[in-house]
Parts: sequence; C-alpha cells; structure tokens
Amino acid sequence: MPLEMLQGRRIAVLMGGESGEREVSLRSGAGVLAALRRQGFDAVDIDPGPNLAAQLQEAGAEVVLNVLHGGAGENGAIQGVLEVAGYPYTGSGVLASALTMDKIQSKRIFQVMGIPTPPHVHADGGRSATEHARQAIKSFGLPAVVKPRSEGSSLGVSIPKTEAQLVQAVSDLMERYGECIIDRYIDGTEITVGIVGAGEKTRALPVLELVPKREFYDYEAKYTKGMTELIAPARISEEHTRESQALALRAHHALGCVGPTRVDMHLDTGGNCWVHEINSMPGMTETSDLPHAAEAEGVSYDELVLQILETAAIRM
Ligand SMILES: Nc1ncnc2c1ncn2[C@@H]1O[C@H](COP(=O)(O)OP(=O)(O)O)[C@@H](O)[C@H]1O
Ligand SMILES: [Mg+2]
Repeated sequence: MPLEMLQGRRIAVLMGGESGEREVSLRSGAGVLAALRRQGFDAVDIDPGPNLAAQLQEAGAEVVLNVLHGGAGENGAIQGVLEVAGYPYTGSGVLASALTMDKIQSKRIFQVMGIPTPPHVHADGGRSATEHARQAIKSFGLPAVVKPRSEGSSLGVSIPKTEAQLVQAVSDLMERYGECIIDRYIDGTEITVGIVGAGEKTRALPVLELVPKREFYDYEAKYTKGMTELIAPARISEEHTRESQALALRAHHALGCVGPTRVDMHLDTGGNCWVHEINSMPGMTETSDLPHAAEAEGVSYDELVLQILETAAIRM
C-alpha cells in the first residue's frame, strides 16, 4: 500500500513561494499541514527560497507535498529541483506542470488528441492587434475571450463584445506579455472537474458548477467570498456528468498529469463540453473548489490530503 510506504517519514509541505498567488498558497498549506498533523504524520512547512534542496536537507524531509500555486512551484521548475535532489513529491511532474501552465501548448495537444477546446487565434505579436482581432472575428465572431498564454486566476481575461473592444484587449495583452489568446466565447454552464490519484487510482470527483455573480468567473468572483456559488454535484444530466468526467480524465492524461488537477470546462447550451485548461496545483484552502467537490462524494478534507500525499509514492 503506497500510503503505508509514507507512514513515519517526514513530510515537507511546500507553501508560500514567490508568485502572485503566495497568499493563497500559504492558506492552502496551512490547511494541508494541519490535516497531516491531525492524522499523525510528521509534517513540516517549507517556504522555498533559491536553495530549496538545502532547506529540505536541513529540515530532514523525506517526502514533499507541494502546495505552491503559480510561478516556479506550478510550472515544473520546482519539480525539476525535486527530481535532481531526489525527493519523492506529489502531483504532476516537470513536463505536465510546464504544459498545463501554457494554454497554447495545452490547446495544441488537446486538438491532436481530439479533446474539444474552443477554437482560438494565437495573437503571437507577428501582426498588429487589429489584424489578429479581425482574423478572430472572421473565424468565430463576437463576443470573444481574450486571455494571457500563461497566467492563472483569470488575470488579464476579458470578454470583448465589439471589434474596438477586442482590438483594445488584444493590444493591452500584447503590450504586457508580447502575445495572447483569442478564444471563441462559449455560452453555457461553467463547470470544473477535479481529478485525484495516480496511475490506476486516477479518478474524477463530482462535477462542480460555478455560478459567478459577475459577468464571468473573473478574479473578483474567484477570491471574494459570496461572489460565486459553488454547486456540487452540478445541476446537469447524468449523461453530461459522465461525459464531462470522462473528458476531464482524457485531458488530464493527454498532458501526462498526476492528481490532483482541476479541469476547467464549459458545457454549452447545445450540450457540448469544451475544455479551457488544466490547473496542476488546485487550491486547497478549506473553501477551495477541490475540497468542495471531494466533500460532495463524502471524502473529507483530511482524506483528500491523504489521497494527494499518496501520489508521492509513484516516485519512490
Ligand atoms: N472560451 C471561453 N468561453 C467562455 N468563457 C471563458 C472562455 N475561456 C475562459 N473563459 C472564462 O474565463 C475564466 C478563466 O479562464 P481560464 O482559461 O480558466 O484561465 P485561468 O483560470 O488560468 O485564468 C474561465 O473560468 C471562464 O469563466
Ligand atoms: Mg481556470
């Protein structure tokens, strides 16, 4: 039993970090640390600096449970350090972490694997914002969704309704990031599917429906209490539930992920599922999506933490 392999070993919970999502990570980490200690594990917290390997050695860590959100903790860089230093760690590896962070590469793989993702134009800076915008309007019309290639938390995402707004949004993001994505707008029910476990134990959690009180699931809606209603299980048919869970699992495997992940999707008004992106480091605060979805099938926060910890065993 993988979990037994981990019993008695000192677990380092990586939390904090230097990304914009530091505060969320500290909250996720505090919850995870408490859950491990409640269940008798020897757990310590580490806020990674430039010499993570030395920090782990000093702390006497044997296994790593990573709860860093954004930046190096989520994009594969920290995973690379852990590989080189030889620590078994939870969640996705170097390549899958890097891919999930990059919405263009993710979409390319989804397309090749036949996983429906909204048609898009990659405004790569090769032409003017106006030309990129016109190409998108010609391909799929308005409204459209403009988003950065490698951000999270809906940062920089907007839904322009006119050509002028679209040109402005594309030009803003091109200025900030050098490039951006213009997506076809999908109207319907926003859902997200949590995936937990590794190997044969990989499975989808109940579908979570997100009902923001704002125009879409933007930064405010994500992080302001009461701004979004989380409904689990989602108010969709059994058939759509099965379909979206199966699709989420396919997307998760297409990018080579290891649980936990969260696959963000839309179920459109015609009943078709579309995959937007995969998050390889889902939030673990007590009010985050993943614990909420787990609870809907009777899996407590503490049990969920054990299921995450167990994924480290594939690297022992
Ligand atoms: N093609 C789309 N159609 C409709 N809404 C979208 C589309 N793409 C993104 N969104 C909205 O923007 C939000 C953020 O987009 P997402 O791709 O999940 O990026 P991230 O969460 O990494 O910022 C989604 O949760 C959804 O509300
Ligand atoms: Mg998202």
